[in-house]
Amino acid sequence: MAFSRKKGAEFTGDTVALEGVELRYEDGPRVLADVNLSIPQQSFYFLTGPSGAGKTSLLSLMYLAKRPTQGRIKLFGEDVWEAKRARLPVLRRRLGVVFQDFRLLDHMTAFDNVALPLRVAGAGEITLQRNVSELLKWVGLEDSMNALPTQLSGGQQQRVAIARAVVHRPKLILADEPTGNVDDTIAMRLMMLFVELNKLGSSVIIATHNEHLVARFPFPRIHLENGKVTVHEPAGANP
Ligand SMILES: Nc1ncnc2c1ncn2[C@@H]1O[C@H](COP(=O)(O)OP(=O)(O)O)[C@@H](O)[C@H]1O
Ligand SMILES: [Mg+2]
Repeated sequence: MAFSRKKGAEFTGDTVALEGVELRYEDGPRVLADVNLSIPQQSFYFLTGPSGAGKTSLLSLMYLAKRPTQGRIKLFGEDVWEAKRARLPVLRRRLGVVFQDFRLLDHMTAFDNVALPLRVAGAGEITLQRNVSELLKWVGLEDSMNALPTQLSGGQQQRVAIARAVVHRPKLILADEPTGNVDDTIAMRLMMLFVELNKLGSSVIIATHNEHLVARFPFPRIHLENGKVTVHEPAGANP
């Protein structure tokens, strides 16, 4: 890809760190109990665990949609719930999130959905056109740039959501089951996009219950079960 490497570190330390984190839903289960986790810069992790284990909940703590009932979350070295409120949008702009349910804007074309993070960041129109088209080509949607989300299949919408999540070159990419709606060939292509962005400097966390996919890449996994996380190094991966 023609994305340029950004110069200079914008922060030091881990990309994201959880210290003694508990998440308990009101009238619901305690999903996370005393979770400690640190994600170094430019690392790549799978996030696994049975359905209902709390993968989506854990990611939503990292993208600041939820606040832990106990413990601390640091993003790019800053304690997010201690930081001034004005810092939160700044920290959020360094994140790229692929939601399990996509969350595309239905009144905007695929192109405009993907362009949104760049427009918010005030990118110039030439850069924007080039980067958005390039990404949509990468995910195989060059012929659907002007389609509305409702005119696209679930798999195509998922690919728009991925392109939108990464177009502004986030320092941390959080992807919730990003290959859940596509076939194996497209899944591998999307994985190569995440791998490429990781090589260019992003940390990546991919929640998945696709063991096939996990086995094909030499990346460690964060496994979530019964409210606890364990980190496992890859066992003889064969990419
Ligand atoms: N907003 C919520 N209120 C109450 N319980 C919730 C809420 N969201 C998720 N849960 C519960 O938390 C647990 C973890 O859910 P989730 O994070 O979606 O798991 P996963 O992504 O691993 O399937 C489940 O038992 C789910 O029912
Ligand atoms: Mg989930």
